[in-house]
Amino acid sequence: MEQERIASEELRRTGLQGISHLVLAATIKDRTTGTHLQRVRRYVEAIAERLGLPGDLVEEFGYSSVMHDVGKIHTPDHILQSEHHLSDAEFSVIKQHCIDGEKMLGTARFFETARGIAREHHERWDGKGYPDGKKGEEISLAARIVSIADVFDALTSKRPYKEAWSAEAGLQAIEAGAGERFDPEIVAGFVALAKEGVLERISSEVAASADDDQPGSSAK
Ligand SMILES: [Fe+2]
Ligand SMILES: [Fe+2]
Repeated sequence: MEQERIASEELRRTGLQGISHLVLAATIKDRTTGTHLQRVRRYVEAIAERLGLPGDLVEEFGYSSVMHDVGKIHTPDHILQSEHHLSDAEFSVIKQHCIDGEKMLGTARFFETARGIAREHHERWDGKGYPDGKKGEEISLAARIVSIADVFDALTSKRPYKEAWSAEAGLQAIEAGAGERFDPEIVAGFVALAKEGVLERISSEVAASADDDQPGSSAK
């Protein structure tokens, strides 16, 4: 029993170590910041908790969320870092990061949730997303949560092509997407978290602990 416990704990640690390597590589390539991933992870955990999921699932959704864009390792730099409008051909290359991400995460049970998130985080509730056009609850719960956290954080962060939106403007955009881009029930939970000040607290806690988001850094 004890041996089994040690073995599974070791497996878990190896898995988590694998995650940080993968994520580090993708982060460098994508020029996103570690703080984006930390905020997404914390938002995802807060939403999952709010939806009443058990603690182990909350944790699993959290660590799995940081791998949503690992597939971008395979996306050519000139497309990833393009600041102009992407052509259809370029956009289909971008879409490939979901499929590549799922593949990169192999077959281990440990990465099952992460594979779903990587594959489905650009799907939309109304079925108009990519890469598969899944809709509603065909999209895994974890991916439906991550898509809200990821979009909100992208909107409220500075990117090479745009300034950071205010939290209110970001939240309005998420609310406007309820039932179209996003699962309306999860949006309701997210809005409640915003009203309770949870999102703001997460964002300032991550900023306080960050070393790559100081003024003058190339946070994107
Ligand atoms: Fe993505
Ligand atoms: Fe992201």
